[in-house]
Amino acid sequence: MKRIFTVMLALALCFSVSACGRADNGRSEEQTESLANGTQQDSQTNESEGSAEEPAPGADDDGTQTQEDTAQKEQQDGEDAAQDEQPAGEGSKGQAFDLEAGTVMLNSGYEMPILGIGTFRLSQSEAEDSVYWALRDGYRLIDTARIYGNEEGVGRGIRRAIEEGFVTREEIFVTTKMWTDDYGNGAAAIDASLERLGLDYIDLMILHHSAPGSDVSAYQAMEQAVSEGKLRSIGLSNYYTPDDFDRLVGETTITPALLQNETHPYHQSTEMKEHLQQYGTVMESWYPLGGRGNTQTLFNDEAIVEIADAHNKTSAQVILRWHLQAGNIAIPGSSNEAHIQENYEIFDFELTEDEMQRMTALDRNERFASY
Ligand SMILES: NC(=O)c1ccc[n+]([C@@H]2O[C@H](COP(=O)([O-])OP(=O)(O)OC[C@H]3O[C@@H](n4cnc5c(N)ncnc54)[C@H](OP(=O)(O)O)[C@@H]3O)[C@@H](O)[C@H]2O)c1
Repeated sequence: MKRIFTVMLALALCFSVSACGRADNGRSEEQTESLANGTQQDSQTNESEGSAEEPAPGADDDGTQTQEDTAQKEQQDGEDAAQDEQPAGEGSKGQAFDLEAGTVMLNSGYEMPILGIGTFRLSQSEAEDSVYWALRDGYRLIDTARIYGNEEGVGRGIRRAIEEGFVTREEIFVTTKMWTDDYGNGAAAIDASLERLGLDYIDLMILHHSAPGSDVSAYQAMEQAVSEGKLRSIGLSNYYTPDDFDRLVGETTITPALLQNETHPYHQSTEMKEHLQQYGTVMESWYPLGGRGNTQTLFNDEAIVEIADAHNKTSAQVILRWHLQAGNIAIPGSSNEAHIQENYEIFDFELTEDEMQRMTALDRNERFASY
């Protein structure tokens, strides 16, 4: 009830101020206070640093500063666009997935596609082709990161698709991530990602990993960039305990729109998903198919094979459809044109309740990655 009251109060306030877009994007003081009260400082170490499974930084920040007048114009354009795009009063939809439209309404007030293309481990040219093929095939969500070293390639793929008339910029949703090394200078990291992508705003930027001690200031830099129109929504990745998530939330203003964690049938992230509900934060699955080198484990799982056979679909398609029906945004990675097309063909069938239960029963709380 308190949550409903808070949302109604926030909406009422939202309509009474001119900067509705940004007001809607934050938490009310009441929410912030109650969250702060419930926060426990978490001293767990950051497992991400030095992980062998993450690629070496692909490109150093070039520190490029745009001219002041250009920056001011971009800021104004971004703010105008943010307000134009803001679907008034729709935040109350919470995190219900629209499986017909293939979208979810984020707590930021922006609509996000629930199936996208992932680009981890793709070279610049592979990322360019994958993004181009994906947009041509109907995808509208793209996931990259500064640490993947392929933001320029992603930007080129987007521009090719736009130039060929498959999409407009406004129709697509681009996510990138701030790497932990950049947390000390988040503002420059955001500008550098915008530059590499060749975009004047990013739909969603997320902190790549939890890093107690430095992630709060990095998140605050993203909050500032939201107010400047450079970022539309912001979120987190690799926060695996409710306490760690609450630590960050308790010290910041804008509720994360999304949490991107390793999530698949063997690691269904049930506890975190339940925890996120109070915030209207959605879960996005990385390694949705188990990750490179692990996919055959899930593809050959007996239950998944049986369900796939029953629908005349592949195991990959069944797993991806399960993600969407389970309320997880999925971003399967691929550099293979046929796989990219196959992974999008999951809106023409539905898993039954019984099949969803069989999938739920596969959970082992077992991750493939060690970070
Ligand atoms: N936040 C984080 O820390 C984090 C970490 C890892 C990943 N991510 C993001 O999440 C995305 C997804 O994760 P991921 O790419 O590592 O793993 P994934 O999507 O679980 O699996 C990718 C693997 O699946 C294969 N594949 C894809 N579609 C297939 C199909 N229809 N049939 C057979 N094989 C198929 C790909 O090979 P082909 O190329 O041959 O298709 C690739 O080997 C990443 O791309 C990245 O954007 C985020």
